[in-house]
Amino acid sequence: MTSELGVDAVVLVGGKGTRLRPLTLSAPKPMLPTAGVPFLTHLLSRIRAAGITHVVLGTSYRAEVFEDYFGDGASLGLELEYVVEDEPLDTGGAIRNVAGHLRGEHAVIFNGDILSGADLRALVQTHRDTAADVTLHLQRVADPSRFGSVPTDPDGRVTAFLEKTPNPPTDQINAGCYVFRRPVLESIPAGRRVSVERETFPGLLERGAHLHGFVDASYWLDVGTPGAFVRGSADLVRGLAPTSALPGPTGEALVLDGAEVGADATVTGGSTIGTGAQVGSGARIAGSVLFDRVTVAENAVVENSVLGVGAQVGKGAVLRGVVLGDGAVVGAGCELLDGARVWPDVTLPDGSIRFSSDT
Ligand code: GTP
Repeated sequence: MTSELGVDAVVLVGGKGTRLRPLTLSAPKPMLPTAGVPFLTHLLSRIRAAGITHVVLGTSYRAEVFEDYFGDGASLGLELEYVVEDEPLDTGGAIRNVAGHLRGEHAVIFNGDILSGADLRALVQTHRDTAADVTLHLQRVADPSRFGSVPTDPDGRVTAFLEKTPNPPTDQINAGCYVFRRPVLESIPAGRRVSVERETFPGLLERGAHLHGFVDASYWLDVGTPGAFVRGSADLVRGLAPTSALPGPTGEALVLDGAEVGADATVTGGSTIGTGAQVGSGARIAGSVLFDRVTVAENAVVENSVLGVGAQVGKGAVLRGVVLGDGAVVGAGCELLDGARVWPDVTLPDGSIRFSSDT
């Protein structure tokens, strides 16, 4: 069976996630703990809620990790299959590579690092109603100049794929989710790297294919950078981003089982405190993600930061917009600001780095 909705889902999860290093040295991006579960769990829960049960994961980088965690998918009500690329084939190549595993006439393809509230049933219905070759989820965004844009005509047909420019003619961008008619998917060249965004879509348009836009303005976020990752996790915890996989009620903080938070510490802004983590008294955690077994000592401040498994933050240290790799140690009184990334198992001695002169 394909699924209740009559389509397969394909999730691309083979990227190296370089922009999220060093967190992605030990775990692929879709497996990073996000609001208490691997990021991919939120997307899979959304796929299941739309009535799609057969899901193929296109993997490459650290492929084994996915199957070890999700197995056959039964616990999520899914039938999961894994297709591994020996060499990464890029997005289009990865889509072509799973063709032999598809069962229905249409497949919904997802980038594995997007949080979205778009209505998947309506996306598939639009694809069927318009008999398009490919239907693309196009997201309306406040600042389209940061992305390539995708204009459509009054009937909703895609007219161009435009590079990033300071004044794009539309606020619609490619949201990283598409419905492909199966023969169109099979027309992508096999066995080599292909970018679906840069090669497949412009090529199809040039050849006169019907590419349709499903324009949406609900929640959407690409969690590919540290800043976006912490925001996405916080939005899930606070109930701003849709999911049915949150392991607790929505609110200002998600404190997982076995975590300890000191009595006069504050945890706010949709922060997650991982299993076995400890937050000392007087510490302030805001809009941050603490993976399992992190320790934050007394009076430390951690804002908009991601702290890898077992990372340690010393007394009175200040971290704002920082990524700590697994096992990294930030000594007491250190101050790390926007964009700092500490590699796994590195120790910064007490008071060794500050961005301001006051102590
Ligand atoms: P960066 O290196 O930080 O750009 O991240 P990334 O490697 O994930 O690349 P990007 O964000 O552009 O990828 C978009 C989506 O496609 C993500 O879900 C990736 O996992 C996936 N992806 C990218 N390249 C490949 C690939 O070669 N094979 C497969 N199977 N998936 C890929």
